[in-house]
Amino acid sequence: MATDNSAADNAAAGKSADNASADQNGQAASVRAELPQDLIERIHTLQEKYAAMGQDMRSYLDGLIHADYLTYWDYVHLDTLLSLQNPRTAFPDEKIFILYHQITELYFKLILNEIEQVADDPALTGETLSMRLKRINNYFRHLVSSFSIMIDGMQPQQFLQFRMALLPASGFQSAQYRMIELSSTAANNLVVHAERERLSGERDPKILLDHLYWQWGGRELSSGKKTLTLEQFLIKYGEEFRRLIRDYRQKHLYARFMSLREVERTDALTDQMREFDHLANVAWPIAHLKSAARYLKKDPVDIAATGGTNWQKYLPPKNQQLVFFPELWTEAEIREWGTIS
Ligand code: HEM
Repeated sequence: MATDNSAADNAAAGKSADNASADQNGQAASVRAELPQDLIERIHTLQEKYAAMGQDMRSYLDGLIHADYLTYWDYVHLDTLLSLQNPRTAFPDEKIFILYHQITELYFKLILNEIEQVADDPALTGETLSMRLKRINNYFRHLVSSFSIMIDGMQPQQFLQFRMALLPASGFQSAQYRMIELSSTAANNLVVHAERERLSGERDPKILLDHLYWQWGGRELSSGKKTLTLEQFLIKYGEEFRRLIRDYRQKHLYARFMSLREVERTDALTDQMREFDHLANVAWPIAHLKSAARYLKKDPVDIAATGGTNWQKYLPPKNQQLVFFPELWTEAEIREWGTIS
């Protein structure tokens, strides 16, 4: 009986499948006969788009018929992304070191993406600048709070050993970090503190680049000679940095802020600018300094595990006295720069 029933069911199912396919064919025919107006309009718009470029829309539609559906893993290049961590040693914590540097570089890219849009916005308003500063500050806050991954996340014994295998590479060579600086303020504000006043009116990108604060940081402890870390960095990016200094002279973040009408430079917007300055030049450098203090201490052997700089003197923000927007701070605030995180 059960068999009979299922045969009957199957027959019924077959019949309804036939009906369904007939229905579908009928629907397809009626769709072909009668496309909705909004679809027709879209096809016309597409046709105009392709015609404007001398292209035949039909070929593109044929391509669409055969194209695969986009997947998440292809879209974000997941396999490639997850294959980019290649430790130089067998210490498992080295992977953490690589990953966190990569995460930071991606955040730097997000920050640059905002600064570039501010720089190139032909009709910048206070509202747009505020919206972009809100994002920039949000990214930087993430970077500051997540730096604990570096401070507490690796075993010092492992760190000191794998770090030696990475010489003379150093985060000092992060070009995006330098690009954030050079697109935020006039290069004159990034000149080493002792020369800043003397070069306040300098415009030559080469002279400015040669006197940036980090050129001093990249000197050998003993001889004062350029470290290999610095030499290689300049060979790779020197030209690009000179171009950036030239191209951003009129459109760095502070120039764009000042290009707004006075009424648009509200207290709230000024506070956002100041927050960015503090995050970039005090809060992040202090978080970073804490990691150097944890792993490197003062032993000369530990110092060797770096790009060769006298980091105790170089890294503290109160020594660098780096301020993107000095005009937005009081003299007393500048005097205390780097002491309050
Ligand atoms: C345990 C973790 C870290 C330690 C011990 C450390 C140590 C150092 C030291 C000693 C310097 C001075 C230059 C040198 O001698 O190499 C330096 C510079 C630098 N590091 Fe790190 N670093 C760490 C993590 C990071 C991370 C995750 C980044 C993110 C990209 C980074 C970015 C930088 C930058 C941008 C500089 C240059 C700072 C400046 O010029 O003011 N560092 N680091």
